[in-house]
Amino acid sequence: MKTLISSDVRLLANLIQEGKVVIFPTETVYGIGASTRSEEACLRVYEIKGRPKDNPLIAHFPSIEEIEKVCVLGDLGRKLLEKFSPGPLTLILKKKDKSLFPKELDTLAVRIPKNPLVREWIRLTGGPVSAPSANLSGRPSLTKLTDVVRYFEGKVDGILIAEEPSYGIESTVVSLVGEHPALLRPGSIESEELKIFLPDLVFPNPFETSPVLSLANVPLSPGTKYKHYAPTAQVILASTEEFIHSLEKGFDPKETAWIGFSLPKKVSTGNVLPETNEAVTKEGEGRFKEFDNFSLVSTNEEYASKLYAFFEVCDLKKIQTIICEAPKPGHGSEGIRNRLEKASRRK
Ligand code: TXA
Ligand code: MG
Repeated sequence: MKTLISSDVRLLANLIQEGKVVIFPTETVYGIGASTRSEEACLRVYEIKGRPKDNPLIAHFPSIEEIEKVCVLGDLGRKLLEKFSPGPLTLILKKKDKSLFPKELDTLAVRIPKNPLVREWIRLTGGPVSAPSANLSGRPSLTKLTDVVRYFEGKVDGILIAEEPSYGIESTVVSLVGEHPALLRPGSIESEELKIFLPDLVFPNPFETSPVLSLANVPLSPGTKYKHYAPTAQVILASTEEFIHSLEKGFDPKETAWIGFSLPKKVSTGNVLPETNEAVTKEGEGRFKEFDNFSLVSTNEEYASKLYAFFEVCDLKKIQTIICEAPKPGHGSEGIRNRLEKASRRK
């Protein structure tokens, strides 16, 4: 199959209208999209990703008005979207338009991506565009065009070139359809910010589906029950102390990679690591440079934006173990911790 790789929003919107599959960037990660009005096209997305059929897709909209035409928004939903959209917030709402994919659910996950060009593209398709993250099911989501092309050229009809993802982890998912609003997937918009609007926000265990919260036997967020975000390498979530210790001894730097904030005062892992933080930052910026198996970050936001791309580099280099320092407590930690906990679960 020929893949049209282009920044021409009109051409790529035509593809969606023809029932084809197009990958596009959002501010979080790349999405692999099809018309929410075409079951056949949406099912092709599942096939291409190898995604389990019981895990529904997020519908991407250009505006709050378009969401309101097909879903019951309510005052709360509107307030949340006005505050956090366009941006990395997904709401689960009751459907008004029952013909939208997936037809068997009476709820729809909705979100408005941040990039104006992407919203323009969605508008031109007639919208909405249903899209899970663009990755093979179970693997980390993709945040770099080069990785998207490597995995999906020849398998999808189009790839929209626009601003690359900057947040780096998937959107925060909040359900407004249960008895209490529920945080189904942590992300860059954090529970503290949400609680200002949703004081009774509940937190279902992210590793289990909750029977109490299930709707007609459909787990509240089916995606939470699958292993996710994991590279081939074993991921280890380490405290700062463990992280520094692992740099000092005990791990073969040829088979190990590190991502985190800290460096030991004295590096003794041989000649793989540079001597100072400055050297790491300079050398570590490019991919496949000498110190690619060490990514030094300075904020949680930078950590999130680099994490998945780093996983990809590590797998390409056949790294066996990736040691990830826990995020800094406070803002930006919730989403990263959730992804690292999931990625580090034993296979
Ligand atoms: O940042 C993001 O959210 C990215 C970009 C492309 O928008 N998308 C993404 O999609 O991460 P995906 O499919 O990887 O994750 C969607 C999550 C899954 O956990 C799924 O179970 C949940 O949203 N979900 C979708 N529809 C739902 C529904 N009707 N009820 C409950 N959970 C739903
Ligand atoms: Mg995903």
